Amino acid sequence: MPRSPVGRETDRVDGRLKVTGAAEYSGDYLAPNLAHAHLVTSTIARGKVTGFDTAAALASPGVLHVHTAPNNPLRLYETTGQAAAFSENYIPLKTDVVHFHGQAIAMVVAETPEQARDAAALVTATYEVQQPRTSVTDEPRVPAGPTISGAPSSLNILAPGVGSIDAALAASDVVVEAEFHQNVQHHAAMEPHAVLAVWEGDDRVTLHAGAQIPAAYALGMAQRLGVPAPNVRLITKYVGGGFGARVVLWSDTPLAAAAARELGRPVRLVLTREQMFTLTGHRSHLTQTVRLGASRDGVLNALSHRSVAERPTTMSFTMTPAHSMSDALYRTPNLHVDAQLAVLDIPGSRAMRGPNEAPGGFALETAMDELAVATGVDPVELRLRNYAATSPSTNLPWSSKHLDECYRVGAERFGWADRSATPRARVDGQWLYGTGMATAIYPAARRAGFAVGIRLREDDTAVVSTGVSDLGTGGGTVVAISGADALGIPMQRITPEIGDTYLPPGAPAVGSSNTHATVPLVVDAARNVIAELKRVAVTANRSPWQGAEVSDLRYERGILHGLGRSMTFGRLLAAIGSPGIYMESSPLGAPIPGVVHHSFGAHFCEVRVNRFTGEARITRFTTVADVGRVINAKAARSQLVGGVIFGIGHALLEENHLELATGRLANSTLADYLVPVNADIPDIDVHMLDRPDPLLTGPLGDGTEEVGTASLGARGLGEIGTVGSAAAVGNAVYNATGIRVHNVPITPDKLI
Ligand code: MOS
Repeated sequence: MPRSPVGRETDRVDGRLKVTGAAEYSGDYLAPNLAHAHLVTSTIARGKVTGFDTAAALASPGVLHVHTAPNNPLRLYETTGQAAAFSENYIPLKTDVVHFHGQAIAMVVAETPEQARDAAALVTATYEVQQPRTSVTDEPRVPAGPTISGAPSSLNILAPGVGSIDAALAASDVVVEAEFHQNVQHHAAMEPHAVLAVWEGDDRVTLHAGAQIPAAYALGMAQRLGVPAPNVRLITKYVGGGFGARVVLWSDTPLAAAAARELGRPVRLVLTREQMFTLTGHRSHLTQTVRLGASRDGVLNALSHRSVAERPTTMSFTMTPAHSMSDALYRTPNLHVDAQLAVLDIPGSRAMRGPNEAPGGFALETAMDELAVATGVDPVELRLRNYAATSPSTNLPWSSKHLDECYRVGAERFGWADRSATPRARVDGQWLYGTGMATAIYPAARRAGFAVGIRLREDDTAVVSTGVSDLGTGGGTVVAISGADALGIPMQRITPEIGDTYLPPGAPAVGSSNTHATVPLVVDAARNVIAELKRVAVTANRSPWQGAEVSDLRYERGILHGLGRSMTFGRLLAAIGSPGIYMESSPLGAPIPGVVHHSFGAHFCEVRVNRFTGEARITRFTTVADVGRVINAKAARSQLVGGVIFGIGHALLEENHLELATGRLANSTLADYLVPVNADIPDIDVHMLDRPDPLLTGPLGDGTEEVGTASLGARGLGEIGTVGSAAAVGNAVYNATGIRVHNVPITPDKLI
């Protein structure tokens, strides 16, 4: 009898393929007669291209074509409706307008990648330059408008008789006010964006490209290319990191596909690492102001969180950093959240891991630490005193919330009780030691409109298919685990089939929602395919149950039982000569009303700061997460560790300097844009509470069902490790040094 794999430490189904180089990423695919493209990017941030000199490029070896705008229009079109929300609002290489520094303005196509790259370096442009608008602090602001999920970007909830948030703050015994600024950050995914486009005729194309929302990406591509949506097939089987950079349809894939159609040959385009910094998005630079008003014993009376982020002119939608953290975390009678945007001539920005919550959480959880200092209340105790039993913005209860347990278990594991609340109290030679903590919260958005198919085969194996992409998260392994549990057969007999828009439409790999969007569909597809198996069993010729009633049969762990006989599904299918039976999930039922869904966590950090150099080193880190049911303990831990590392990068290392005068992102290389490496990271202690959330995914079942439901009750956990972890670092730095840094990253110069 197979034990359910749910909750165990499971190796990734594709782990060996990845580490041995056998897994093919988008840039690894070949096609007969392949040509290669390379982009030329703008060296001004705002204005027009007045002319190109392409003579040298055209004369260089192997060059097939040099595309420049507007003389050489490719057949590319606007995106509309849903696809417009997931793409840029200009058509690449269509006009002479330059919207940002680093925009694609020309494209060379040649026989080899090296020839294309060399020739691209020979293309020069002349410009008519305008002064770019670049600063979120200086430019006029516009209200952010509703978030992409439809939530308001501004809230003003006041207790009866209170005239304004300012009045509520003024009436508070203790007030903390802090302003935060952070520069541009990047996803810096390991795999560069790459695309291979192969046309059949003039209106049917297969693309290999990394995408987090494959169905929306393919739809956007169909619109960009002016072909019917079903004619675009996107294969996105292996992806080397998403983090939000592969949500939007940027300019690279449309340009490569259009070039391939013009040329009548397959074309591959791989961005350089430097091009990734301007052509595939970033986290907005932004300012935030948090004001907290509380009683002397730290009970909140007022919370105000304002933010100003960027809205690049090429993006119709961007993120609102005050959100999903300050309107969800603490009980307060007066709550004010306001997100504004400054329209800027800078590269497109969009979601980056915890897009609203990571920067919002740094600000709010730093301010809460300042309130702890101001009131003399322990930071954990302060958070428990302000614990919200219902959502502060909607007053609805949570489907599942065990944040108090995260605080308690985390404090215990970390040894929080041993700390000194006094800054600079612990010294070891040239190092100052300190500890800090912070909270994590991330919404668990329910997503509908997707499907999973299961095929039972005559060799007693099953294929579980859905178009979802696995960004390196282990999402494909979750499909296999959930399928094995649902069908009650060993994982070795499950083949997950993902990453292709010709499969049933897969849930988006965004917003930490893929797991809880996909798992209920796997369970439902298993229910449907078991029902179909029974139907076939009582109707098929050569079935021992032909003519029996479906109710005579019971499915258990891959075997049909009934009327004194038992047979595996494979043997039944072989007996009746069926090549296999296939069923898809039914559409998801309506959400359970009256509850809200979030994941939660608590971070505890110990840091040492060199008294002479200002260098901060993380020495210990504990994260306790409330993420619903844990499906793969190994991959879940990795996700949380990776999330925390993102937070440590946010706190200590990551920023791209946006030159305000030129709009250039000045350190757009991995030598200058620093991300943490192993030497920066200690062994991170991760603990998951493993408390299922059935109101999010559907009832867990009572063990009498024929289908296994152990994978229900999970919530996605791609972002929860990132939210709040930067604040835990900053709060530890304060405890170590007595220096409060509001402008991340906390570089050595800020600590001496
Ligand atoms: Mo995420 S920032 O929703 O890819």
